[in-house]
Amino acid sequence: MCGIVGYIGKKDSKRILLDGLKELEYRGYDSAGIAVLQGDNFSSFKATGKLINLEEKTKDFVTDKFSIGIGHTRWATHGKPTELNAHPHAGENSYVVHNGIIENYAELKKELLEDGVHFLSQTDTEVIVHQFEKNLKTSISAFEAFKITIEQLHGAYAILLVTKGEKETIFFAKNGSPMLMGIDSDNEKYFASSDTPLIGHCSDINYFEDGDYGYVSPDALVIFSQKNLQKEPVFTKLSTNKLSAQKDGYRFFMEKEIYEQHDVITDTLLGRLSEERVIFEEIESSLFDGINEIKLCACGTSYHSALTATYLFERYSKVKTSIEVASEFRYREPIMNKDTLFVVISQSGETADTLETLKMAKKAGLKTLVICNVDNSSMVRLADACILTRAGVEKGVASTKAFATQVTVFWMMSLYLAELKSSMAKEEIQKQIALIREIPASVRVSDAMHEHIKRLSKRYLHGHGFFFIGRDVFYPLALEGALKLKEISYLHAEGYPSGEMKHGPIALADPELFTIALLPEHKLYEKAKSNVEELSARDATICAISPLEFDKADDLIPINRCKDYMLEFFEMMVVVQILSLEISIRLGNDVDMPRNLAKSVTVE
Ligand code: M6R
Repeated sequence: MCGIVGYIGKKDSKRILLDGLKELEYRGYDSAGIAVLQGDNFSSFKATGKLINLEEKTKDFVTDKFSIGIGHTRWATHGKPTELNAHPHAGENSYVVHNGIIENYAELKKELLEDGVHFLSQTDTEVIVHQFEKNLKTSISAFEAFKITIEQLHGAYAILLVTKGEKETIFFAKNGSPMLMGIDSDNEKYFASSDTPLIGHCSDINYFEDGDYGYVSPDALVIFSQKNLQKEPVFTKLSTNKLSAQKDGYRFFMEKEIYEQHDVITDTLLGRLSEERVIFEEIESSLFDGINEIKLCACGTSYHSALTATYLFERYSKVKTSIEVASEFRYREPIMNKDTLFVVISQSGETADTLETLKMAKKAGLKTLVICNVDNSSMVRLADACILTRAGVEKGVASTKAFATQVTVFWMMSLYLAELKSSMAKEEIQKQIALIREIPASVRVSDAMHEHIKRLSKRYLHGHGFFFIGRDVFYPLALEGALKLKEISYLHAEGYPSGEMKHGPIALADPELFTIALLPEHKLYEKAKSNVEELSARDATICAISPLEFDKADDLIPINRCKDYMLEFFEMMVVVQILSLEISIRLGNDVDMPRNLAKSVTVE
């Protein structure tokens, strides 16, 4: 949660910080702020709401000489999204920005209050700057004070701190929240929570490890590890392709990302399919030696893709598979056996709850695998093995292409395992591989289909709720459809197994209850149809998504007839995504930045 940026050099630091924050706005947009030290003077600006408000406030502020600057875009955790709670937080002579949570802030704050320190905000972050200034009084240098401060903090953080006594220095520390640093051709240094703000400025970047801290100045770059040993940065090349992060003429990033699914799934398949087998060069097959069970763990949309995997792994690979919501798994004292492969699934690779379950599994000595979209993310660096989903940068807060590529990876993985475990005949695996090659075509959006859904969406803007229902893998898809709709339309929606409706929810049936019924031809069609008929008989409004005509539906969104239920899955996935998108647009919502949400949930 939250995005931070930093810069030290002679260029226009205001522009660099604001542009960087723009790239990170998806991480939180409750408020934003910057602090810049030029010569002897600090200038600090804060504004609630989106970055445009900060742009407006800083329009007359000029940075035309050497300066050091830090910036922040916030997703509120401690304290309301007010200007006082916005970062950077100030002490008497210093400013700090922070992403994460300081768990022992209350204790530190109590002591600081007893010392007579005056707090302006309700945040956990503000203690950092005051604690630093307290330590400064008894330290031989600002860096020593910073180091002591970091040692006193418990929790997760990425921190940048600047202070008047060191006019050419930015202090940094990272533990559990993402942060990286880049250097440009003039040896000027940049910090950010992810690499996109640095594209166009830096060609080489260093990802900090948990426990790293240090400082940069025009001539120095000093990094210490958690064990207080000085270390060299490890620079990797940064992509120069910023174009992919633009909207390309689509109204919203989410829309663009739905349309991109054809291309990114093609990328996901690249080099991973031969005629008769699935190849994952990035993992050793020995990862599965001695494994009798797979445990999947994730949050949100990634949980839904993983739920789909439970059907595929048991059906095709014949491997016992279970799944858990990460935030539940963390605290229920689970039994972890060493013959279980622990698999976490995450678009960002930074989700705090999922990351924590990975740490638990590692601690318990389990083999671990991450299915992730962001290379070098915390989960990728921690897990024993990694399969990247190759969806590219996903900017829409409502995940679409990440989900599509995750399910694609899981379908491939079920066949990879089927071969390893000899649970499927060779010819059957070949047939499945041929089907997988058809996924990119199944997710192509036709103008006619989009137009049809757009027109239909006007009938679904009210009512007292939506039920997305499906059976088998269409149940996780129903959950995902409902999540998409509620995230961006703010309408109440639930995903339910079709067969469960008569065990309670059918009591809600009336014309104002909208049922989005997933009716694939090739998986339990007759059974799913009867469940929908039961709802139709009670006058619920039915919108069926199916390749087949269905006379009990009020509306039908047709999909192409496919050879297999998994291809129907992908066809329907696109329909539920576009339906949510169009309903949300009609309601006038900000599709890419829905209220109360953030792209990356790096707090529990
Ligand atoms: O980055 P992750 O896949 O770990 O994120 C998990 C969830 O926070 C995420 O899927 C969230 O539910 C999305 N907003 C769904 O659209």
